[in-house]
Amino acid sequence: MMGFAERLGHAAAATDRVLSERLGEMRADERAPERLFDATDHALLGGGKRFRPFLVIEAARLCGGPEEPAVTVGAAFECLHAYSLVHDDLPAMDDDDMRRGRPTVHKAYDEATAILVGDGLQALAFQLITSPPVPAEAAGPLAYLLAVESGHLGMVGGQYRDLNAIGLDEPGIRLMQSLKTGALIRGACEAGAIVAGAGADTRTELARFGALIGEAFQLADDLLDIEGSAEETGKRVGKDAEFGKATVPALIGLDAAHKRLDAIVSEAVAVLAPFGAAGDVLREAARFVAERRS
Ligand code: IPE
Ligand code: IPE
Ligand code: MG
Ligand code: MG
Ligand code: MG
Repeated sequence: MMGFAERLGHAAAATDRVLSERLGEMRADERAPERLFDATDHALLGGGKRFRPFLVIEAARLCGGPEEPAVTVGAAFECLHAYSLVHDDLPAMDDDDMRRGRPTVHKAYDEATAILVGDGLQALAFQLITSPPVPAEAAGPLAYLLAVESGHLGMVGGQYRDLNAIGLDEPGIRLMQSLKTGALIRGACEAGAIVAGAGADTRTELARFGALIGEAFQLADDLLDIEGSAEETGKRVGKDAEFGKATVPALIGLDAAHKRLDAIVSEAVAVLAPFGAAGDVLREAARFVAERRS
């Protein structure tokens, strides 16, 4: 059986294949504005770990579902994630110049184009999950899940809280993080169960696992902003402290934040107990979230 690193590589390759195919088909249409598609390729196809597609694909595999529909659903999550990054980097939000080791979309193109790339990627996510090979009976529940997790009570609500977060206490920071980052990661795990046709209990267990690693993922991101380098992360570091961002490490200190990260990962690993050895790749994924350097 392949281990985590191979499975992540496999998910990334499969996701890039689907995204390139779909964007290539759209680009061939005579109505397609070439520069908008170039900027979209820049946002979507230039790097990134593909961790959310990996979660969809592995959750679906754990539930015994076929791979191709899961890859398409994973690609939809990557579209939502990439859209969130393009908008997150805009001058009106985090005002960042570097992403995935390259200039951000508004730097390489312009702000209006970056806004439209994000808007278009959001739409593309819904186009992907409502067309083959995603089974028709899964499309409705998946569209609902994507809408909730990316919207006002999900990623968008979390980003709003982040931008207005000065002076938050720890529960406030954790709520903000569970929305801005946790929602899509939890949603990716749950979507894998849905596209595989899993029962309600399995769906709940995978969503619980996703909520925990989602929290861990943002905590690790905040630690990397303090302890990582631009070479490793592909984005500017030190900006959270510079701009007084509300983060868990800023509030409780580095040592306590690392302990909390380890505790969340252990809890996530424990949630997978009902799956036995079949859950090993996701267990490794939970550990990767805490140990990652990029
Ligand atoms: C970065 O996400 C933004 C957060 C939600 C913390 P990733 O660390 O998954 O970024 P990519 O996709 O690998 O570039
Ligand atoms: C980003 O959080 C979360 C989303 C894009 C939804 P950050 O602002 O910390 O992410 P980076 O550090 O820019 O990747
Ligand atoms: Mg941000
Ligand atoms: Mg940011
Ligand atoms: Mg960050």
